[in-house]
Amino acid sequence: MAARYQAPRGTFDVLPEAARGRARIEAAAAAIFARAGYEPLATPVFEDTELFERGVGKSTDIVRKEMFTFEDKGGRSLTLRPEGTAPICRAYVEHGMHKLAQPVKLSYVGPFFRHERPQAGRYRQFHQLGAECIGTDSPLADAEVIMLLSDLLGELGVPGVELRLGSLGSLEARRAYLEQLKAHLHAHEGELSKDVRERIDINPLRAFDSDDKGTQGVMASAPTIVDSLEGEDAEHFAAVRELLDAAGIAYTVDPTLVRGLDYYTRTIFSFVCDQLGAQSEVGGGGRYDGLVEQLGGPATPAIGWAAGIERILLALDEEDEPAGRDAFVAIADEGQRQRAMALAVELRHAGLSAEIDLAGRALKGQLKHANRIGARRVLILEADGSAQLRDMDSGEQRAADPGNLVDEMTGGES
Ligand code: HAM
Repeated sequence: MAARYQAPRGTFDVLPEAARGRARIEAAAAAIFARAGYEPLATPVFEDTELFERGVGKSTDIVRKEMFTFEDKGGRSLTLRPEGTAPICRAYVEHGMHKLAQPVKLSYVGPFFRHERPQAGRYRQFHQLGAECIGTDSPLADAEVIMLLSDLLGELGVPGVELRLGSLGSLEARRAYLEQLKAHLHAHEGELSKDVRERIDINPLRAFDSDDKGTQGVMASAPTIVDSLEGEDAEHFAAVRELLDAAGIAYTVDPTLVRGLDYYTRTIFSFVCDQLGAQSEVGGGGRYDGLVEQLGGPATPAIGWAAGIERILLALDEEDEPAGRDAFVAIADEGQRQRAMALAVELRHAGLSAEIDLAGRALKGQLKHANRIGARRVLILEADGSAQLRDMDSGEQRAADPGNLVDEMTGGES
């Protein structure tokens, strides 16, 4: 039978077997965030469109082509969040968090939406988890957030991970550099791809990302921002590298590293995984020292990252074992239904996973079902009030004390 409706293109259902791996990733992240003091903050799934236009930047692909934008009944333009940093900064300003002790350290997890061309590792609804450290420009914060992501990927066992590090300098330095880069691109306009040529003045940095041969030739001789860092920017970048060295975090400095959002200043970084194809980045981020002010708050330096849960899952490429059940309460006689239900509830209260038959199966069918769901032990309630305990691994069965069934189940293996 052909399904009448399907999940929209670029989206997917998280089936129970896939949910387990996700839950494990989220739990590992939650523990790492909690241990480092990054408190959870949840923002709405949609925001005023202007937040992303101002925050993420009008020249970015995200804002130009990838937003799911709609009008509400009051004629306001809303957008399904394509990323989490602008909303977090909006919340920081809205709730006056600049008055708290700085920095404010926050974390989040949830769905995000971009109208991209779907492929492995790239979806229209995907899930990010992220950390933001708002209110300090100390290189210690850069090193701390990078280490959080490094720890998470390490703890989860993501193979083949490499950290790439770059710096864009302060807002002023970045501006001066962009002028230099634009001049270089204009001088070689004839050799550039059409797309890059058209965007020289809008977003020249993206030229580093181009897969066009001619453009790549031009970029090989382009000035890089890492090489032109000066003064405090150069010192800041050196301090971040020193802290990472001291912590034993391996990285490569990539002078051509660019990111698809406009708000970055100074440190940027990307964790790539060689197990992933074209969409090789599992997570990344950087400093955004101008964003809070851009959104109407006081001048506030900040840094953070986000990682894609689907990309982590793809990189891990493992099947999670089904969870199984501690107990199944079977009945040899219809009259035992209530007793079975009450016993299952008691077992659950005692902390065990326990199920009963909800489909009216005969005893044989119940045992088959218990086996199917991976129940380790089955209690069989007999018509005369007695009970049998069956170990599903060994197949052994013995009489159980009907007055003490919960104890029998919780008190060690039979
Ligand atoms: P981003 O690089 O756009 O940064 O996204 C972060 C991560 O989300 C990527 O590394 C990738 O793993 C995942 N991701 C992005 N787009 C998709 C997609 N279409 N399908 C599946 N996964 C995807 C940000 O969003 C910034 N807010 C990160 C940040 C936080 N910077 C500072 N603080």
